[in-house]
Amino acid sequence: MVEERPNYGSPTAHIAANFMVGILLLTLALVGYFLLSPLLVLLLLPSVYFFWSARGWARGGLLRDKLRIRDDFISVVGVEDGERILDVGTGSGFLAIGFAKRMTYGEVVGIDVWIPLGGGTSMRNVLRNAEVEGVSDRVSFKRADARDIPYPDDYFDRVVASFTIHIIRGWEKAVEEMVRVLKPGGVFAVLEPGRGWAGGWKVDQDLRRKLEGLGLRNVTFKPFTVYYPKKRDVYLIMGVKGESQADRLSPSLSL
Ligand SMILES: C[S@@+](CC[C@H](N)C(=O)[O-])C[C@H]1O[C@@H](n2cnc3c(N)ncnc32)[C@H](O)[C@@H]1O
Repeated sequence: MVEERPNYGSPTAHIAANFMVGILLLTLALVGYFLLSPLLVLLLLPSVYFFWSARGWARGGLLRDKLRIRDDFISVVGVEDGERILDVGTGSGFLAIGFAKRMTYGEVVGIDVWIPLGGGTSMRNVLRNAEVEGVSDRVSFKRADARDIPYPDDYFDRVVASFTIHIIRGWEKAVEEMVRVLKPGGVFAVLEPGRGWAGGWKVDQDLRRKLEGLGLRNVTFKPFTVYYPKKRDVYLIMGVKGESQADRLSPSLSL
């Protein structure tokens, strides 16, 4: 029997790109060897590397890397039984399902608008993933905009996101909403690239000041290396919501 696997993104583009580069280098090596210089046979080495890499993606490289990132993320961010957790821009349910797997009971919610170019995910896909991963009883999904989160103030113990905030136009409002629905003492944690293409997202001191201004304390930017769609550094941005109104009005000058 074939084991059902969750779908957290398709590796097709990676397989095709590596395969094409492999073919190109192989052709150059053979044609170059006979027509130009015997030294060009050395191009066989990178060609084999790209074929090997295409094979790796085809055998589940993307899923493996995503699951590793998810495990590392949750280990740093933490989780306890009975908590309420919100994953904003959940997509395929990547983080929401990961948190639900680490709990025996609790309430995990994933929200998304499932935009057409958001990585090919859908409500149908996310529900299937939750079932395949065996956590349908602990996680639910809602169609909702990150800039208008349909939950009361101070509701969640942890509010998380991955690769979402930097693509939202008006991401400041999304972050404000994420902090609003977080309980005092609750953890805010997002995994995002250093720069975005919507409305000037940038991981810098200005972002730190904005997060502190919203009431987050102990804000940290931890570099994180990911390997899809290529090797790159992103940031795990974390903070804790101030316990009192006074905390929120005079945020600490952390780090
Ligand atoms: C690059 S995907 C990341 C998905 C998932 N978090 C992951 O890491 O695999 C970005 C997601 O953000 C969602 N998104 C974009 N704008 C949004 C908004 N305003 N509110 C909620 N979700 C949004 C997209 O539909 C997409 O599913």
